[in-house]
Amino acid sequence: MTLQQAQEKVKKYGQEQVLRYFDELTGTEQQELLDQIEATDMSLMEACKHQEELAKRGEISPLAAMELDEIEANKESFQKTGLEAIRAGKVAALLLAGGMGTRLGSDNPKGMYNVGITRELYIFECLINNMLDVVKLAGTWFHLFIMTSDKNHEATTSFLKEKEYFGYNAEYIHFFKQEMAAATDYEGKILLEAKNKLSTSPNGNGGWFISLQKNGLLDLVHEAGIEWFNVFAVDNVLQRIADPVFVGATIEKQCVVGAKVVRKVAKDEKVGAMCLEDGRPSIVEYYDMTPELMDAVNEKGEPAYNFGVILNYLFRVPELEKMMSSLPLHIVEKKIPYLNEQGELVKPEAPNGYKYENLVLDMIHQLDSCLPFEVVREREFAPIKNKTGVDSVESARELLKKNGVLL
Ligand code: UTP
Repeated sequence: MTLQQAQEKVKKYGQEQVLRYFDELTGTEQQELLDQIEATDMSLMEACKHQEELAKRGEISPLAAMELDEIEANKESFQKTGLEAIRAGKVAALLLAGGMGTRLGSDNPKGMYNVGITRELYIFECLINNMLDVVKLAGTWFHLFIMTSDKNHEATTSFLKEKEYFGYNAEYIHFFKQEMAAATDYEGKILLEAKNKLSTSPNGNGGWFISLQKNGLLDLVHEAGIEWFNVFAVDNVLQRIADPVFVGATIEKQCVVGAKVVRKVAKDEKVGAMCLEDGRPSIVEYYDMTPELMDAVNEKGEPAYNFGVILNYLFRVPELEKMMSSLPLHIVEKKIPYLNEQGELVKPEAPNGYKYENLVLDMIHQLDSCLPFEVVREREFAPIKNKTGVDSVESARELLKKNGVLL
């Protein structure tokens, strides 16, 4: 892209500030900036001016979960079906590890965080240990795809290599990078992180299937005969991955998505709850829970929106390939490093602008059927979002200990 074309583009979207330092740059730096301006979708930023439009929801109604007693009663059959699928190579795990983990506040990728006390025990290691249990049970390896982003790819890949993948078979591990999106101030103006570089953030965890495709990995998926992706977040150190019972239940119930859920501890707990939205499976975010929804009861007299998602989903590949429409955009407040008026880099202590993201939970709404599958909270839900307090390193350590993990 030439300077003139870049000037036209930024003018069209009211983003002229990104060329503020152009004349101070070397020839190479100028070209880097022009390339980035060309590659950036600046139409996204318009959305921050009409955020109320983005937040519109359809009609919410309950979606029953498969609860623990039903799972227990059918465990043998579900496990057999799940193990058959795993042994046939139909199930792959997909780790979403492209996020920035800003709340945890570590400069390294979240998975590199050491939760051990008397020994080293990294988050990645906890997840891989959980997968190795299934490898042992099934007597076979299964593929593990790891999504990273520009911000953490190098660190993630070299760390895992150095640790020899914590015992996982490297031939079954495949890394790919997600896309980035520009980040803005509260007025929707794109920030700069260097004089020749727009501030960018990973574009949310909802782009994982498109990024997998763009990175040319779908050929491998087809060749290997993968039919299901168990997509999971990096920060829940207790979750079971490629859990045969969960896989088997989703297959036997003929659903195209399974979602692990936990019973909420309070009606206003900050987790998204499984529901139907205009008759299709969906997730109602905690900030969209009206008092009516919080107090609604089902035919058993229990809270109707009582099961929260834990970001552990099982997606069927053919439906993902048919998924055509784009996902809704989420505008999220974050701490974004930026150049101030003096051209100095500032790393803010508090949120100072917006990131533009697609979220994996919105994929559920595009699919026809979903099985919410209850798991025991204390055994499978120990997310590490913050340094201290709720969903923190401290709370996860307590839960790991309760589950017999040596720290
Ligand atoms: P979070 O919503 O916790 O976001 O991600 P985050 O960026 O990791 O952390 P904060 O909000 O800045 O503290 C949930 C999961 O989705 C992944 C994360 O790595 C985590 O596993 N994720 C998030 C991505 O893979 N890409 C993204 O762009 C965002």
